[in-house]
Amino acid sequence: TAATHQVTVSADLSKQGPVINKDIYGQFAEHLGRGIYEGLWVGPDSSIPNTKGFRNDVINALKEMEVPLVRWPGGCFADEYHWRDGIGPKDERPVKVNTHWGGVEETNAVGTHEFFDLAELLGAEVYINGNLGSGTVREMAEWMEYMTSDKNSTLANQRRANGRDKPWDIKYFGIGNESWGCGGHMEPDYYTDLYRQYATFLKTPPGKKPLLVGSGGHTEDTQWTDVLSKNIERDMDGISYHFYTLPNDEWETKGHATEFDEKMWFATLERTYRMDEYLKNNIAILDKNDPEGELGFYVDEWGTWYDAEEGREPGFLYQQNTLRDAVVAAVNLNLFHAYAKRVHMTNIAQMVNVLQAMILTDGPDMLKTPTYHIYDMYSVFQDATSIPLTLDAPDYTMGGKAVPAVTGSLAKGKDGRTYLALVNLDPNNSASIKLDVSGGLDETLKGEILTAAEMTAKNTFDNKDAVTPKAFEATADDFTLPAKSIVVVAL
Ligand code: AHR
Repeated sequence: TAATHQVTVSADLSKQGPVINKDIYGQFAEHLGRGIYEGLWVGPDSSIPNTKGFRNDVINALKEMEVPLVRWPGGCFADEYHWRDGIGPKDERPVKVNTHWGGVEETNAVGTHEFFDLAELLGAEVYINGNLGSGTVREMAEWMEYMTSDKNSTLANQRRANGRDKPWDIKYFGIGNESWGCGGHMEPDYYTDLYRQYATFLKTPPGKKPLLVGSGGHTEDTQWTDVLSKNIERDMDGISYHFYTLPNDEWETKGHATEFDEKMWFATLERTYRMDEYLKNNIAILDKNDPEGELGFYVDEWGTWYDAEEGREPGFLYQQNTLRDAVVAAVNLNLFHAYAKRVHMTNIAQMVNVLQAMILTDGPDMLKTPTYHIYDMYSVFQDATSIPLTLDAPDYTMGGKAVPAVTGSLAKGKDGRTYLALVNLDPNNSASIKLDVSGGLDETLKGEILTAAEMTAKNTFDNKDAVTPKAFEATADDFTLPAKSIVVVAL
């Protein structure tokens, strides 16, 4: 039976919390499945309209939702990637086997120059992940020189000969990926020695040094954060961390992307909300080992991971995306905002056609997923100044487990307006919101809402707008947040 949660949102609008770094809205694009090839890159000779080989429809949609940062080329792929394979004439580039993802041929048609073209088309900054696992110190150092040198060196001149005169800017550079697993199955102590060695030789012209990322832990592990933050005294700006949301909480049968009942809806949200505890635990370690707060905590892979869709190559990690994914995205973004003092950057996995994607493509066609719409609605929080808020909400419970029924974010956007985001995790019960906000409120709150009648609602190529944001208006003193909905309003 439907009931109504009573929720109070209290805040003092004159108070300021940390800035929500726009890089929290970063994306991940790995050479995996149809993420890069087909999803983004169709090649300049394709009948699909493109610019420099990248499809215009997808680029335009991504530009609309404002992508600040893209991580490339992996993932597990990064530790098998040799950058020299991806420069120079395309027909001379070696064809490799993508051993991690489906054993398909990797033509190397998208390499360093093409990736920077993509970033430029999107107006995004770049996060490049280097190969520690199967590369060499020399190879990584020379890639850095190739990309950033302004000298007359042979490598810089090779870059010029390949069509790029000016050195590129790299915002973040990762030294290995998942070094505890696909990146080399290392122990954190061993990794920290390697990190120091590799970082020593990453030389850049003055002012060109990227933020350097240590490859950290995942899920409930905190050991990697501890060892890295204790043992790497210099040349590390942040530690990466990965946490995926598997409804069943196990890798063998993760759960179906679109066919699920309330039990699985709840299980998904209960697992995703563990991000709160995991962030808290890792940040407590950083606060101890790095009390000056110099290190960032970068959640550079996160999102839902379901069983691969029937009839498709399982190694391509293609999955549909429903209203449930939109709720997962909003819940996590609210958490990242809450921990913005340490969490300066995150990358949802992954941008197109892979895992919790923003966009799905089918030949020349594309659609925006419910997750896309959350990123679009939440874009007002990029570089906004957070305002501390207290959310007094009951729990949404099942089988003795609980998550908050409602989570939210409050911040002053770069446009000077104050934005409130609220998500109702409960698929059955609406929430009656009491705003106890001092410092001036508009009588009418205007914004957008994302919801649907069914919790499994999704956008398909036959019905692309089943889940799209609608205009939302409420009076400040009578504000109802419908069940399973996400609202962003200006106060
Ligand atoms: O995003 C898919 C994979 O998940 C990445 O390649 C890897 O880093 C992680 O295990």
